[in-house]
Amino acid sequence: MYFDTHAHYDDRAFDADREALLQGLGEGAVKLIIDPGCDVLSSRKALELAERFDFVYAAVGLHPEELDKYSPESFEEICSMARHPRCVAIGEIGLDYYWDASHKEEQKALFRRQIELALELDKPVIVHDREAHGDCLEIVRDYPGLRGVFHCYSGSAEMAKELLKLGWYLGFDGPVTYKNARKALEVLELCPMDRMLMETDSPYLSPVPMRGKRNDSSNLKYVAEKIAQVKGISPEQAAAITLENGCRLFGIERA
Ligand code: NI
Repeated sequence: MYFDTHAHYDDRAFDADREALLQGLGEGAVKLIIDPGCDVLSSRKALELAERFDFVYAAVGLHPEELDKYSPESFEEICSMARHPRCVAIGEIGLDYYWDASHKEEQKALFRRQIELALELDKPVIVHDREAHGDCLEIVRDYPGLRGVFHCYSGSAEMAKELLKLGWYLGFDGPVTYKNARKALEVLELCPMDRMLMETDSPYLSPVPMRGKRNDSSNLKYVAEKIAQVKGISPEQAAAITLENGCRLFGIERA
């Protein structure tokens, strides 16, 4: 039974078959899904899906790539949606210097405001960190009570050790199956079993052998196989462990 802790079913890539796809997933091996929003609209859509499907939960937040959509009004809306009982985290939030390295201070300020919202509501965060490892680490260090996951972790082994010491979880996605995955596999190897989460980032990051196609949660089996191989456990154990970890971090009661 799988828990996909990061899948964007609100994305327009699913417009044609969203209902049928989610219905099918719900009848299969995928037990739980978190759909993180990236702006007001996608956060609202994620919450709507979470209201309709009992195995789907939402996270709400402003993604650093959506920095230009920030306004006092949009932030207010995120704050009010964040209180929804089906919203289990603030995300995805963070820093992306690959996308835009010219507004670092604005990105950092928005990241901090949303971390403070998470702390106020006692909810974990889902962090997007792309080519901003040092600044992300520096910021999360400032908030000792903060819990969460570095989604699709792409930093160094040293930084992973730091984050683990601080109590963070690390998310592993399709890229662990790629040929050039040396660094991600090194991190997977050192990550304690009780801190790893399994994600797809659907519709993106399809694992081998589905690379290049639209991703969905049923492809978690390929990520599970890789985790199992690295950790010396069975894919079923990898699925069960990450399901339990996800429920613990996001405060979801298991049925
Ligand atoms: Ni994502």
